[in-house]
Amino acid sequence: MCKIHILGNWKMNHTQKELASFCEEINSKWSELSDKAAYGIAPQTLHLSTLKTKAPKGLLVGAQNCSDQESGAYTGETSAVALKDLSIDFTLTGHSERRQLYKESDEFINRKTKLALENGLTTVLCVGETLDERESGSTAGVVCHQIEAGLKDIEPNKKLLIAYEPVWAIGTGKTATPDMAQDVHAIIRQKLYDLGHDAASTPILYGGSVKPDNIEGLLECPDIDGALVGGASLKATDFLALCRAGGMRNA
Ligand code: PGA
Repeated sequence: MCKIHILGNWKMNHTQKELASFCEEINSKWSELSDKAAYGIAPQTLHLSTLKTKAPKGLLVGAQNCSDQESGAYTGETSAVALKDLSIDFTLTGHSERRQLYKESDEFINRKTKLALENGLTTVLCVGETLDERESGSTAGVVCHQIEAGLKDIEPNKKLLIAYEPVWAIGTGKTATPDMAQDVHAIIRQKLYDLGHDAASTPILYGGSVKPDNIEGLLECPDIDGALVGGASLKATDFLALCRAGGMRNA
């Protein structure tokens, strides 16, 4: 069984002050959490170091994105080398907001994922279908294509995680039911296996309107190894409740 990961994606939210009060609250409750699961937060890039300093020791701090290039004249980008240099624990790649709003292609996401892994960063490759794709019955095809293209020329790597985030469930309050999510997670695991990856030990997280009141049902599914959470990770009380649920599953 994979280690459960509960990861928060703060997106473009939180000021320094909000970050500080979030940390104060989680610091006071941190020792109550099970050490069997892993917990992390990806804040905006400029808050990475502050979060690293203020968060409890053991909270994984991650980037929401990274460049497809190591260094050089790429204005506005953040390199995996610099993230590693700052001891950042993980990065997301291929989040649907990057795919949709910034037109990131599978090839581009593949270069980022490869470079991040080569630099020793734990990398969470995000995949997921749109509502149209689900309604036209192409969920499995879309997700398998994103996995195959995103992992092209990438060797099996213990630092790889996958997040299945149906686009129609992100920030909408519409969560996939545990059965719907489990079906796709099982397809993803099989695809990882077919591609020669270490399918059984690659954590596959679910994301899309995960909240304290629906996480338990999702985590009961055999192929759901945690959650990537946007909105509900912004409030310390909710984030702690999600972490508690994650810790229980691994108990
Ligand atoms: P949400 O976002 O939990 O607010 O739906 C999830 C994500 O985008 O990672």
